[in-house]
Amino acid sequence: MGAYAEAYRRSLADPEGFWGEAAGLVDWTTPPTRVLDASEAPFHRWFPGGELNTCANALDRHVEAGHGDRTALIWDSAMVPAKRSHTYRELRDEVARVAGALASLGVRKGDRVVVYMPMVPEAVMTMLACARLGAVHSVVFGGFAPKELAARIEDAEPKVVVAASCGLEPNRIVAYQPILQEALKLSGHRPEHVLMLQRDAHPADLGQPGYVDWAAVVPSAEPAEPVPVASSDPLYILYTSGTTGRPKGVLRTAGGHAVALAWSMGAVYDVGAGDVWWTVSDVGWVVGHSYIVYAPLLVGATTVVYEGKPIGTPDAGAFWRIVEEYGVKTIFTAPTAFRAIKKVDPKAAELAKYDVSSLTALFLAGERLDPETYQWASDVLGVPVTDHWWQTETGWPIAANPRGLEPMPVKPGSATVPVPGWDVRIVDESGAPVEPGREGEIVIRLPLPPGALATLWGDDKRFVASYLSRHEGFYHTGDSGYLDEDGYLFVMGRIDDVINVAGHRLSTGAIEAALATHPAVAECAVIGVPDALKGQLPYGLVVLKSGVEVDKEELRAELVAAVRRDVGAVAAFRDVAVVPALPKTRSGKILRRTMRGIAADRPEPVPPTIEDPAVLDALTPLLRRPAE
Ligand code: COA
Ligand code: AMP
Repeated sequence: MGAYAEAYRRSLADPEGFWGEAAGLVDWTTPPTRVLDASEAPFHRWFPGGELNTCANALDRHVEAGHGDRTALIWDSAMVPAKRSHTYRELRDEVARVAGALASLGVRKGDRVVVYMPMVPEAVMTMLACARLGAVHSVVFGGFAPKELAARIEDAEPKVVVAASCGLEPNRIVAYQPILQEALKLSGHRPEHVLMLQRDAHPADLGQPGYVDWAAVVPSAEPAEPVPVASSDPLYILYTSGTTGRPKGVLRTAGGHAVALAWSMGAVYDVGAGDVWWTVSDVGWVVGHSYIVYAPLLVGATTVVYEGKPIGTPDAGAFWRIVEEYGVKTIFTAPTAFRAIKKVDPKAAELAKYDVSSLTALFLAGERLDPETYQWASDVLGVPVTDHWWQTETGWPIAANPRGLEPMPVKPGSATVPVPGWDVRIVDESGAPVEPGREGEIVIRLPLPPGALATLWGDDKRFVASYLSRHEGFYHTGDSGYLDEDGYLFVMGRIDDVINVAGHRLSTGAIEAALATHPAVAECAVIGVPDALKGQLPYGLVVLKSGVEVDKEELRAELVAAVRRDVGAVAAFRDVAVVPALPKTRSGKILRRTMRGIAADRPEPVPPTIEDPAVLDALTPLLRRPAE
């Protein structure tokens, strides 16, 4: 039996033995008394009785082991432009001061802190500072509209919001303060303070009530020591799009998270102490949480934090410049980034200008990796390219090529094999297993391994209803796919109303809610349609109120503006069609899934309960060519 097969077998047959051993990868202030507590299933608790501090594991222990001079974080902003690096000692000391500043603002263990910052080192420091205090961070992506930020503030009820004054996009400066002020107005909760990092490009007005200047308090703050927390204490809340407009607060607990991430760095990514690792994403997404911030630091690697885009900042050589400049060993990003580079530089002429010999692997996730992009990336880079599949909820890969354990042969289009710890099954709608090669719902048998979501913040009921009640004893991923005869997993796409636009996860429900605010709209549906660059784009179908006369171009512009206002620019909403009616079942349910299937050219059954098949027939040509 190969190393992968043996690890996989053992992780499922003897999870306590397997994860008990992996627990040795982190330092515990109090060792766990047990590995797994299943007494309150389906709520499972990993490493009960254990106490640790995640920040101390990510920083202090490396300094104490004599590696304080090793580079922990390199920041490269193509936007300012600017560069800065921090050794482990420097980062520990700075994070201790940020933690001290937060403590001086009243932040204590268990308090929530909303972090609203772009890709600056201070965002990473703030997250680690929260972990140091045992406080719970909730990072909000900068591309969201005030309403989305407000929903998160209202749900997390932070004591403090830590913000930067602006984000930098290629075509504009995104002033954060007006967005934050608007969100605070909309939200029923008011934080006691806003700790504001001023950026030269667009400083904020610090005269607003409750505002505190980062530069005035952090440098002089009393450094805070790490506070041990229970393994099951919350480390962070990360809101993600569900099938309704209301985001779900994925709750990650401290112990399982540290163990799983440290284990994954070796077993999946083959990266360890001293390696230079670069995840090109955003701290606002789970990929950023796990693999920009926590995992690389937990194993003592160097993490590169990049503010910029793959193209246009200034050109399609941006990635290769960074690989050469910092000796990057491994890159992790979303396929869309490579599709963008391929589009403007198909012959990879920019790549030829740089020495990228340090690069040994590329990992891609966040959306489906199309075989063409896989092939192009493999050909131009000449290193193994790994597609792997995971979700905000799982926190780390469910299926991957486990390069550190045993590299497996690649099958383009497949995320390779289930990672140890994840008991992946394919079932039909009734929950019955389906045979290899047949597509069905991808589910995971409980217990989920360490590091997966523990619950939804403040809403155990919604956690059970969303993920655990569809098929008893299994976690419902919301994706469909199949396992082939060799046990390789092929992920085909979401079976619900979640879409993935340029690697950004969005709810079509939230976009529909924005469209519905328009006075001329009687009803609407939004579906994800394939896009050659962004993977998917939202496509809106609206039915107008009877008797309403509108200029279609004006209406389109107003609907696009409404989505930008209520969801954010990141929704990239541009395509909308006015239609006479929406296809529905006799009970009034809109046939989104069927329409999605037609747009993606996938055989999707038309329910027998369809009310008027002619409505769907009339829409079909439009769905096949939505952008034209
Ligand atoms: N703050 C504010 N606005 C943001 C933003 C942020 N952090 N990120 C994106 N936006 C805005 C963009 O400026 C753009 O606005 P515009 O409509 O005014 O032009 C809009 O949201 C859409 O952004 P995006 O879909 O990212 O398109 P893009 O044209 O800016 O860039 C890519 C295209 C492919 C280069 C870009 O999507 C990319 O780098 N993706 C990498 C994948 C990634 O990081 N995924 C995260 C999960 S792993
Ligand atoms: P997020 O929570 O933003 O990470 O988005 C998770 C969703 O992205 C998954 O449920 C999938 O639909 C999709 N996804 C992530 N990685 C992959 C992949 N490698 N292949 C196909 N889809 C993916």
